[in-house]
Amino acid sequence: MGVRRLWAAVPIGAMLAAASLPAMAQNVACPARATRFADKPAVAVGVSWYPEQWPEERWETDLALMKETGFNTVRIGEFAWSRMEPAEGRFDFAWMDRAVAAAKRHGMMIVIGTPTAAPPAWLTQKYPDTLRVDEDGARAGHGGRRHFSFASTRYRTFARRIAQELAKRYGRDPAVVGWQIDNEVGPPSFDAEAVAAWHGFLQQRYGSIDVLNRRWATQYWSQHYDSFDQVPLHATGQQNPGLLLDFRHFTTATWIDYVQNQATAIRPLIDRRAFVTTNTMFWNAGFDHFAMHRGLDVAAWDNYIQNGRADWVANGANHDLVRGYRHCNFWLMETQPGRVDWAPVNRALDPGQVREMAWQAVLHGADAVLYWQWRSAANGQETYHGAILGQDGAPNPIRAEIAKTARELTTAAPLLADTRPVAKVAMIYSFDSRWAIDLQRHSRDFEPIKAFTDFYRPFRTASQGVEIVSPDDDLSAYRLVVAPSLNVLTAAQARRLEAYVRDGGHLLLGPRSGMKDDANALWPQRQPGPLADVLGARVEQFYALDAKVGIKGAVAGTAQVWAEELTPTAPDTQVLATYDDPGGWLDGKAALVSRKLGKGRIGYLGAWIEPAAMEQLAAAWLEGAKVRAPVPSAHPDIEIGLREGRGRRVLIAINHGAGEHPLTLPAGARPVADGDWKDGRIAGHGVALFELAE
Ligand code: GAL
Repeated sequence: MGVRRLWAAVPIGAMLAAASLPAMAQNVACPARATRFADKPAVAVGVSWYPEQWPEERWETDLALMKETGFNTVRIGEFAWSRMEPAEGRFDFAWMDRAVAAAKRHGMMIVIGTPTAAPPAWLTQKYPDTLRVDEDGARAGHGGRRHFSFASTRYRTFARRIAQELAKRYGRDPAVVGWQIDNEVGPPSFDAEAVAAWHGFLQQRYGSIDVLNRRWATQYWSQHYDSFDQVPLHATGQQNPGLLLDFRHFTTATWIDYVQNQATAIRPLIDRRAFVTTNTMFWNAGFDHFAMHRGLDVAAWDNYIQNGRADWVANGANHDLVRGYRHCNFWLMETQPGRVDWAPVNRALDPGQVREMAWQAVLHGADAVLYWQWRSAANGQETYHGAILGQDGAPNPIRAEIAKTARELTTAAPLLADTRPVAKVAMIYSFDSRWAIDLQRHSRDFEPIKAFTDFYRPFRTASQGVEIVSPDDDLSAYRLVVAPSLNVLTAAQARRLEAYVRDGGHLLLGPRSGMKDDANALWPQRQPGPLADVLGARVEQFYALDAKVGIKGAVAGTAQVWAEELTPTAPDTQVLATYDDPGGWLDGKAALVSRKLGKGRIGYLGAWIEPAAMEQLAAAWLEGAKVRAPVPSAHPDIEIGLREGRGRRVLIAINHGAGEHPLTLPAGARPVADGDWKDGRIAGHGVALFELAE
């Protein structure tokens, strides 16, 4: 089958429309709240409910118990395809009509998940071409989930039809506040149709095979291609890094297209206030999430602490990332009632921490907290997972904490309504950069998320408000922009960053920045490539470290994993820190440089430095950019966040530690009733809300 013909058969229009939308501007025109219905609760609290797994006689009891738990929302449907369409083209929604009606009788808001993560056996048996194929050629079988091929035209036709049938039936029901497309999309497929789509994708991206050959530098190792259909489809292995990065661009385009195939089917059939989303996963690198969300109404994600040992700052970074997908409040579509069942050791969170998780999500911009799940199925892969009810249908011990949390969230909803987190600091997270570094780490220990989080930690803690942005976003709302390792940098992005600095912004680049273009090829200039002249310095050489190297000057301490030697090239570039590496290449060389440019400042730190040194760096740059925290010098266990909107300023404080700590509030702060703050102290695992004077 010819490349063009096949790719044209896939509904590519939607993908292109979504992919070519302009980059998001932040702090503008978010819908009032993530729940989007002005006449409904501003904060959704609820649970995944699978009525298809239980006798109908039980539903009333379950819903009454949910209500008693303080829930106002259920998510239903996302794995029930075999029940909705028991045979090809034969739909049965009578049971679902009754489940929806029952949920409504209990006043629930409803999110409907399209069931396409779990195709029925009749479908995959009759049409095995819809099944996913691994990179090694193995075709998936029935019995799990996500076993479909994301590129299968036939699968998309079935998926679109079931989504459409659902939307026809429930789209105008005012209780249905949102639509979740599929469930945690992610694994790619390497079937013949995917390969043909890949060739079509490359043709669209490069126009001619000559351009691809040039951008991938295929004279290397005789990789030259005569035509697109010679290019193998690979995600891993000994392949050209240009090909491997483009594979990720391909999965991004294909997943966007896959999701939009359903989104465009349901949009004309549903209430305009109802959102369309898909739920995403922890730091998932399967596709570019910024690009995916340009075509969705709200972001939603599933937050799990797999080993039950929370690193709260790192978890907060993921919340900020999800908020950053659209720069709006988001839905926490799933979170754990205590424990998961898929970690090596599924330790439960300590008492109080499930409540902390919910409030942390809200602090970072969630307008919804939904637990997974209400009651585990009587059998199946997830019977060990945390749930609110036990197998006997009675509440598990965690229910009391969740009920308390639900009560608190619904009580605070009017105060939180239409407020969103305040952030003066942006951190650039680039999927391309993460992928490019991961593909060629150079040091095994350069784990991109760990590197990002090590930067995030002191900036978040000291500023108490960080937005995570894509390299294509408008940065004008931020006083300080930190790009921890912006490895892939396009010329257009470099121009925008330069303009941001000249207009008065403060930009700090971290190690490995500005090395590659978006085909994963080296920039002809040394790092930071297209920003080298703007910075007035370049990376003379980079080094992977297996031992610590000293740093002295404005930041002092040690570097590990990675260090770059910087050379100033402009007379006004200041060297702020140098390496202390007797007998080594780096000794005495610049590690941190900075330059005033226009009304702003640009800096470059060439090393991954230890936490104490990072704190010095963050303090200096926050000071330089005049960013002030709402609660200066809070104890490190205490997380602070400020949500503002409609003339209200709500400060949220969470003590993630077990011990009580002093917490001094800004003048005029008024504690909101029932918090865990008393006489200037916040209890261990305590949560407290304060209204601030305007
Ligand atoms: C999520 C998934 C849910 C459930 C949950 C268990 O990734 O969306 O369906 O499996 O994990 O932690």
